[in-house]
Amino acid sequence: MNRQQLIDTAKAMVADDKGLLAMDESTPTCDKRFAKLDIPQNEETRRIYREMIVNTPGLNESISGAILYDETIRQKRNDGSSFVQALTDVGIIPGIKVDAGAKEMAAHPGEKITEGLDRLRDRLAEYVQMGARFAKWRAVITIGDDIPSRGCIEANAHALGRYAALSQEAGLVPIVEPEVLMDGNHTLERCYEVTEETLRTVFQQLYRQRVMLEGMILKPNMVLPGLACSHQNSVDEVADATVACFLRAVPAAVAGVTFLSGGQSSELASARLNAMNVKFKSQVPWELSFSFARAIQQPAMGIWGGDSANDEAAQKALYHRAKCNRDARRGEYNA
Ligand code: 13P
Repeated sequence: MNRQQLIDTAKAMVADDKGLLAMDESTPTCDKRFAKLDIPQNEETRRIYREMIVNTPGLNESISGAILYDETIRQKRNDGSSFVQALTDVGIIPGIKVDAGAKEMAAHPGEKITEGLDRLRDRLAEYVQMGARFAKWRAVITIGDDIPSRGCIEANAHALGRYAALSQEAGLVPIVEPEVLMDGNHTLERCYEVTEETLRTVFQQLYRQRVMLEGMILKPNMVLPGLACSHQNSVDEVADATVACFLRAVPAAVAGVTFLSGGQSSELASARLNAMNVKFKSQVPWELSFSFARAIQQPAMGIWGGDSANDEAAQKALYHRAKCNRDARRGEYNA
């Protein structure tokens, strides 16, 4: 493992107030989003959609890295160049989602465990050959009446630790993503409690598995009330709770925090990231950045609608949301 190379890549992923574009939807997730918009669900349509994204003029002004999916990292643009090459050419670092999805957890009704550790070392070696420089693994924690259980949190944290250690061994910066879902009617306080317990457990496992914190990125949820909660907190309350929780549970050595959007609207995700940076940028030890999928792509996907005649308008929308989030990192976002 080349420690310095991992540290340099992790730093570059959060440098310059830029952030990450998550374009690593698995085939079922991408198809689900296409279906809602009546976009055909097949490999070629997914390819031309991703080509439209990668070809967005000026994307590299706000985006430092892009997360790809196994299908996408093997695909090419119309001109024959790979997506990895196209991104690298404009200074966007290519990365890859390496988990095999969150599956029903045995004996834990309503909870999920992320699969994908078997043969991971070989798969990582192949992705390195293809030009990937970082990896991502998503664990899912669900809030409900009697959940999450310790068993679910511990099993997912352990898997994240093992994945992160293997990634660093391969020379890939791990993005460690323990997502506490915002589905449900729970309060912000409950989300705080669950997020703190999850993060503490994850970092205990990262320590046990000898993961180098300076060479990794944390991709967490913000601390939010459930989507169906009757009390929706203010943007400032979300920013305060999120940063307070992280100061308690996230070691200062971590290279960067890149939030997921998790189903928030594009505008709210940017406004909350902005509030955190306005209030705390100079006080926290990590960069507070973004690694959004839906909050960057959703407006563009709607405009695109499966028709290449809309490429330019969709690219403008994509560029706009990416820039909004760079502005938010500087505390300069205007809704
Ligand atoms: P969202 O920003 O849509 O939550 O996606 C981020 C992601 O990569 C989920 O794994």
